[in-house]
Amino acid sequence: MNMKKLLAGILLLGGVVLVMSFRPAGPDTDADMHVYKTATCGCCAKWVDHMRAAGFTVSVENVMDINAVKRRTGVPLDLGSCHTAVVGDYVIEGHVPARVVRAFLDEAPAALGIAVPGMPIGSPGMEGPNPRPYDVLAFDRDGNRGVFERVEP
Ligand code: CU
Ligand code: CU
Repeated sequence: MNMKKLLAGILLLGGVVLVMSFRPAGPDTDADMHVYKTATCGCCAKWVDHMRAAGFTVSVENVMDINAVKRRTGVPLDLGSCHTAVVGDYVIEGHVPARVVRAFLDEAPAALGIAVPGMPIGSPGMEGPNPRPYDVLAFDRDGNRGVFERVEP
């Protein structure tokens, strides 16, 4: 490599570094959660409160057809719950505890998302007497799923 090419390369690299350092800071992965729910869903609002209390920044969108959101985001129908949240490229379905959401985002596995199917009593936003254990399932686009974490009340 001649000196001119080397210098040009260094200048180019410097320019790229400069441009990158002046980019506005992107949002934290966990500071950019968007929740789809129906307007009348009370337990959804309570789950949003739970996520905000845990430090997540949450935007909320009321939709008429929540199942359309699940189809669009790739949530398996049998893993569905009352609301669907999107964080970056991940989908968080239902009443997943904030602690488990954070663990999932930190781990960043090759999955589409995690879900707490249905609305188990004792999950965040579904507080009540006789809480029961439930599984947080990880799933991918091909319909594969597995237990990400079992939550004991
Ligand atoms: Cu619910
Ligand atoms: Cu909900």
